[in-house]
Amino acid sequence: MNVQDLMWGKGPRLHVNEGQSKSYQVADEVLLFLAEHAHDEMHTLETGIGVSTLLFAMNRCVHTCIAPIADEVERIRDFAREKALPLDTVTFLIDTSERVLPGLEGNALDLVLIDGAHGFPVPFIDWYYTADRLKVGGLLVLDDTQLWPVHVLKEFLLREPEWRLEKDFLPRSTVFRKTQPGSCVKNEFWQPYVVDRTIELLYPGHIDMIQPYLPADAIHDWERRERPGSLLNLRRARAFAKRVLRYLHRKL
Ligand SMILES: C[S@@+](CC[C@H](N)C(=O)[O-])C[C@H]1O[C@@H](n2cnc3c(N)ncnc32)[C@H](O)[C@@H]1O
Repeated sequence: MNVQDLMWGKGPRLHVNEGQSKSYQVADEVLLFLAEHAHDEMHTLETGIGVSTLLFAMNRCVHTCIAPIADEVERIRDFAREKALPLDTVTFLIDTSERVLPGLEGNALDLVLIDGAHGFPVPFIDWYYTADRLKVGGLLVLDDTQLWPVHVLKEFLLREPEWRLEKDFLPRSTVFRKTQPGSCVKNEFWQPYVVDRTIELLYPGHIDMIQPYLPADAIHDWERRERPGSLLNLRRARAFAKRVLRYLHRKL
């Protein structure tokens, strides 16, 4: 078996909707990306289950798959048995990711695929509980970015300095590379996407409430929180101030 055997229309239909067999699988280009980047003995994790799980198994990843429907796991097992594909490197956790992930411990991860529930706020939960476990240099694959919750997560990460856009499979999927630790426990003030959206939200009717995000306060806050007077901090504060001003000028 190879990746071609799993592609759209060729692979097994592992999901069921209203009695019909379906495959809600990732796009072929994402499968190809995973085939290239998920190597044997890498530690990988996905929320959701499907042909992507078979791909991780084929590439001999030490893989954790979190999905709530036991029948889907059974169908994977049956298909793998039929094709003599070993699943010994895959651990199935049969429950929802929002229940499993908060208590899940394990190795640092090389690659995470978020493709379980897509309703608000599950993709955020999936990201929050895997982001710190992902190694610096590791890959995060978001599927179904055409859906608003995943789209917001993507937009947020595009602005975070700890993540770099690795590949955009528009409009459905995006891959980020983690470039620094510590992205998910920041105060909102340090999250550029949140600052911009907050200004946008407040500007029309509550400009007075934008005050905390205005340059003087920004500089003050940077100075107060970090080493006062440091050239680096001042430069970063000025860059932040410029961004806020640019934003306001666009709006005025
Ligand atoms: C889009 S499919 C995954 C497709 C798979 N990545 C592939 O390439 O074939 C979504 C999967 O998420 C599972 N799912 C639904 N709610 C979930 C949740 N709360 N946590 C984890 N998985 C969930 C569904 O049972 C389904 O198997």
